[in-house]
Amino acid sequence: MKLLVIGSGGREHALVWKLAQSPLVTRMWCAPGNAGIAGESIQKNGAAVECVAIGAEDLARLLKFAQEHRPDLTVVGPDNPLAAGIVDLFQKHGLKIWGPNQKAAQFEASKAFAQDFMVRHGIPTAKSGTFSDPEAAKKFAASLDGRCAVKADGLALGKGVLLTASVREAEQAVEEIMVGKAFGAAGQRIVIQELLEGMEISLHALCDGTVAKLFPTSQDHKRALDGDAGLNTGGMGTYSPAPFLSDAELKSVGDAILQPWLRGCAAEGIDFRGIIYPGVMLTKSGPKVLEFNARFGDPETQVYLPRLENDLVELLLASVEGRLANAELKWSANACVCVVMASGGYPGNYPKGKVITGLDVAAKLPDTKVFHAGTALKDGQVVTNGGRVLGVTAWAKDLKSARASAYAAVEVIHFEGAHWRRDIAAKALR
Ligand code: AMP
Ligand code: GLY
Repeated sequence: MKLLVIGSGGREHALVWKLAQSPLVTRMWCAPGNAGIAGESIQKNGAAVECVAIGAEDLARLLKFAQEHRPDLTVVGPDNPLAAGIVDLFQKHGLKIWGPNQKAAQFEASKAFAQDFMVRHGIPTAKSGTFSDPEAAKKFAASLDGRCAVKADGLALGKGVLLTASVREAEQAVEEIMVGKAFGAAGQRIVIQELLEGMEISLHALCDGTVAKLFPTSQDHKRALDGDAGLNTGGMGTYSPAPFLSDAELKSVGDAILQPWLRGCAAEGIDFRGIIYPGVMLTKSGPKVLEFNARFGDPETQVYLPRLENDLVELLLASVEGRLANAELKWSANACVCVVMASGGYPGNYPKGKVITGLDVAAKLPDTKVFHAGTALKDGQVVTNGGRVLGVTAWAKDLKSARASAYAAVEVIHFEGAHWRRDIAAKALR
């Protein structure tokens, strides 16, 4: 089989790495890919994975490439092309593609849609309201004493959420998003949720239009600095499993969210084939969904895929073709930890083009994989090319050993300005 993977981050490197292990695969392209992806090869025949210089949002050129090269399956990593309707476009041209169509991708593309859907279908979530009028929004925020999450409706690079602790702050947040247009058109409508307290976890489920297969738990670390301080980022590290739920509890949390979600999708004619990824707060009064994503998490994927024992190509085909009911997802008993090494300044402005050394040494470490997120090749050297640069990942029989291995690998890798959190998975070991 020939595969085309779309995207260029750590998630896509993990997808390419896992897909390349499938005995079904003979050729693979990634658009646009990165330096790590360009270094992967296909296990069956040793062929190199080919990076193609087409951006993940350039739907017209992606379609043209696919029409010329006829991949048997295209796998979409990021949210933007999904929201722009790449799945509908490829399907219209008779190309098999994995990911939710545009209607289904609304769970991530519109927070207002997702929130109203949760209310309509009884999915446990925060007390909330959806607003297009700033005055009505402020009134609702005041009714929550200003303890709110104020969210721009549309996609805003994961940054469109402001957490507030007083009526004054909440009013400012509403002004910033709706009047000041801090997140552009994404903020024409907003969702306001009550501020929830508890442990936040990531859930993923693979869906085929009617069935949803739940993954084990994982936990991201969204703030830039140790102790969950600093600014929000795309995610500074993950681990799986997260020990805050037993298997039985995970199943019941999954059921409480996914059963009404599936019923709602059926009732509203939403054919969801892909990953649904609810961000969940485990509160004193039960689990509550903060938001939905309609794709694999980044860097959650980096800790899920080393644990997945199935052939990922087979699973994605079953998802596209509506055949997941009989599939059994198998996970290794290992724990897995991913520590993100970021550019100096990230999540603010940062330089690019810093030479990365030590990757060859890290590559020799056992049960360790360095996934590239923002890297490029320049004059034969691997250089930084993004905010999140590497996802240094290791697995072992328990979380403590996996964490030690991941940090040992971080120690051998260097680039100017590199920073990373020292407390990934620390909550789980406390
Ligand atoms: P979101 O993009 O909706 O996941 O929000 C980004 C981050 O803001 C989440 O990962 C949470 O850490 C935090 N957050 C979002 N909504 C709430 C809420 N209702 N209560 C507390 N924290 C929240
Ligand atoms: N791990 C955060 C995200 O993928 O949105």
